Amino acid sequence: MIWDSAALKEAVRSKIGEHKFIVVSNREPYIHRRTPNGIVCERPVSGMAVALDPVLQACGGIWVAHGSGEADREVVDERSRVAVPPGKYSYTLRRVWLTPEEEKGYYYGFANEALWPLCHIAFTQPVFRQADWETYRRVNEKFADAVLEEMNSDTGFVFIQDYHFALLPRILKQRRPELVVAQFWHIPWPNREAFRICPWGEEILDGLLGNDLLGFHIRNHCQNFLDTVDRGIEAKADYERFSVTRGGVETLVRPFPISIDFALIDRLANCQQTAGRAEELRAEHRLNYKKVGIGIDRMDYIKGIPERLSAVDRFFEKYPEYRGRFIFLQLGPGSRTEIQKYKEYDQTIQNLTAEINRKHGGSGWEPIILFRSHLPPQEVVAYYQLADLCLVSSLHDGMNLVAKEFVAARSDGEGVLVLSRFTGAARELEQAILVNPYATDELADALKTALEMPREEKSKRMERMRETVREYNIYRWAGKIITELNRRLV
Ligand code: G6P
Repeated sequence: MIWDSAALKEAVRSKIGEHKFIVVSNREPYIHRRTPNGIVCERPVSGMAVALDPVLQACGGIWVAHGSGEADREVVDERSRVAVPPGKYSYTLRRVWLTPEEEKGYYYGFANEALWPLCHIAFTQPVFRQADWETYRRVNEKFADAVLEEMNSDTGFVFIQDYHFALLPRILKQRRPELVVAQFWHIPWPNREAFRICPWGEEILDGLLGNDLLGFHIRNHCQNFLDTVDRGIEAKADYERFSVTRGGVETLVRPFPISIDFALIDRLANCQQTAGRAEELRAEHRLNYKKVGIGIDRMDYIKGIPERLSAVDRFFEKYPEYRGRFIFLQLGPGSRTEIQKYKEYDQTIQNLTAEINRKHGGSGWEPIILFRSHLPPQEVVAYYQLADLCLVSSLHDGMNLVAKEFVAARSDGEGVLVLSRFTGAARELEQAILVNPYATDELADALKTALEMPREEKSKRMERMRETVREYNIYRWAGKIITELNRRLV
């Protein structure tokens, strides 16, 4: 059976029934901004938000998230609620307001300067500030208030997203033990040696063990979590059942590899307008008669962008016959720009691009085009379609949805995916050219292999990967989680 929106709706109807369904995340699925032409509603740059939105559209319910847009307050009702998506209302977005100090300590500080580098082993040292930790705790309480207000006196299912809310499950369970609480951790879970450096490790583990179900992308992250708990806190990890029991209460720990709405991207890829846009972009960037490589990422140090640019540099050194015949497009928006590490990263990428372009470019041709902006979905698909290869070189990534989107966008069977072994996606997309992003020569050679791969082999690999993503799509991901939880919803 292939899961789709209708199948998920049916699963929700039969399994959740009259219970309330509340999703919680930091990043909201729709952001309102002021422009000279009035307020516009935008989609954020977040794999998590993009993946969950079709689920909520299918199931209805309430999504509680930080209201971070400058015009967010202008469109909500007196209870900070707004119906979304615009013009196609199918669920309620409940916004939680944070002060600049709260955002600084909880989001920039503890979530993104401590937990993010702690969980992604990409050799950036986590920063643990006591004040950030206290703010993180307070903000988790604040979200708990909003969730319980929405839940009212009903029973229901709370589905928490990510590392911004490690303490929320325990707070909810202390206040309302009958609620069913699940959490999906969208980033890796490190091995226990790495996790041990966190000064508040025990509180974090205890918070997470408030969940009835805790999901990670891959089995290896579940295993790491069980090991961390087994040695780090008073609890019993059961490696047979994949669960942890603390204080007589069990938390199931399960892998659920997240995915995309394959059918939606496939539809976008097959519409005339997208093909037309791809042609326009070819002309705009002067790509005609050239081979094209593409990378689309938030500017984040886990994405391995300098590593990939260095591989492009090495590629031209080793294979100079490609000078003037190959262009690499690096696209994507800035991210978490308040954090010094991210500012420096952005600068490093700009400098490296300029240096490589100086070194190899000439006669109106530059090997790398760096284009920093947020692109709407159809534009992204048009870019995927004009590329001969897509390069995902993350140093460590829980899943990486760009890899899956690229595959969904290539119904023409063309295009080769070059994918870091250190992404969750590499476990499923085995027909990609799998690489170690730290090995510059290996990456440079992978670019050549991709560009010279015979058509038949390309389409065979692409077809296999497309079958995988078609079947293991986002509706299946949500359906499996809901089915697992159903056992607890009595
Ligand atoms: C990762 C996280 C998401 C997050 C996204 C974008 O995918 O798992 O929770 O939303 O990065 O990051 P941001 O900090 O901009 O929300």
